[in-house]
Amino acid sequence: MAFTPRVFSGIKPSGDLHLGNYLGAIRRFVPLQETHETLYCVVDMHAITVWQDPEDLKRWTYEIAAAYIASGLDPSKSIIFNQSQVMEHAELSWIFNCVARVGWMERMTQFKDKSGENSENVSLGLFAYPSLMAADILLYKTTGVPVGDDQKQHLELTRDIAKKFNHDFRKQIKDLGFDEDYFPITETLATGPAMRVKSLKDGARKMSKSDASDMSTIYMMDDADTIAKKIKRATSDAAPLPETADGLAGRAEAENLVGIFAALSNRSVDDVLIEFGGKGWGAFKPALADLAVSVLAPIAGEMQRLVGDRGEMDRILRDGAARARAIAQPTMDEVRRIVGFIR
Ligand code: TYM
Repeated sequence: MAFTPRVFSGIKPSGDLHLGNYLGAIRRFVPLQETHETLYCVVDMHAITVWQDPEDLKRWTYEIAAAYIASGLDPSKSIIFNQSQVMEHAELSWIFNCVARVGWMERMTQFKDKSGENSENVSLGLFAYPSLMAADILLYKTTGVPVGDDQKQHLELTRDIAKKFNHDFRKQIKDLGFDEDYFPITETLATGPAMRVKSLKDGARKMSKSDASDMSTIYMMDDADTIAKKIKRATSDAAPLPETADGLAGRAEAENLVGIFAALSNRSVDDVLIEFGGKGWGAFKPALADLAVSVLAPIAGEMQRLVGDRGEMDRILRDGAARARAIAQPTMDEVRRIVGFIR
């Protein structure tokens, strides 16, 4: 059976949005709404796997929904909603908790990074997080998920859960009239520059919502002066820019800044280097700052306006949740029957 091409992605409301979220995710969501059925979620149930102040959680939930719209997502084309309004996510994730194996979760590098030395004392939700993520995706029989590089392992696990469910319940799936698989084997959509935007201060670390140093992260709501200052002070090296992408090998900070330029301007890295190859940082950094401000400032302005209009935001999120539920409910009805729950 062919699956309807459908795209789903989500962002956690656990901190201020930054350039990595924009380039690795949000910017790439926009064109997909022209070619696919698209669902973009604010995954508030994922956020609470680590402690969130409830007021911050609400503020960041609105901020992400506003960023989606301000960046070009159209609520009449894309389904925009927050996860906790569609309880089927939680229900399917419980079933997946019973399909997935503890060993699969233990191998997740993000879990290891986040739990660190303290893995006995993190929430049970943090451990089971990838199972909820698989539920987000498979509840809509999603065929493609645009994400940054750091989510690739979670997408592999989503495929493993889909395969095991399809295998374990093969007979019931067939009895329900499905010739082959019930869940699709979802593709990860993660190609192009800036799939892993690095910290501006350390090319070995990714830019992240939880970085302690403010100077390492460009936030989507930063004003023009702050963006320019952060780029000017970004760590770089002494050499001029190379003529081709190959010349960036072993120069993590340079590779990061050129990749950001390429992604922001919709150009290839080689194309950017045709313009800047042989030039120094004194020429490149101001051009990058101007470019970043020209892209981010209008989005930040629109985000500000939208977050100030709670009535409109609530309306958009409720409408999105109702449309998401209309897809999710028939799937959950079938899943309940497949696993043998009496209704
Ligand atoms: P989250 O909230 O950490 O990040 C949201 C999106 O931003 C991307 N991203 C980056 N891309 C490039 N460079 C960076 N430095 C960078 N930092 C973050 C992430 O790859 C992601 O695409 N588990 C997910 C949320 C989620 C989800 C889902 C995603 C829950 N359910 C279902 C897709 C489908 C997360 O924590 O993303």
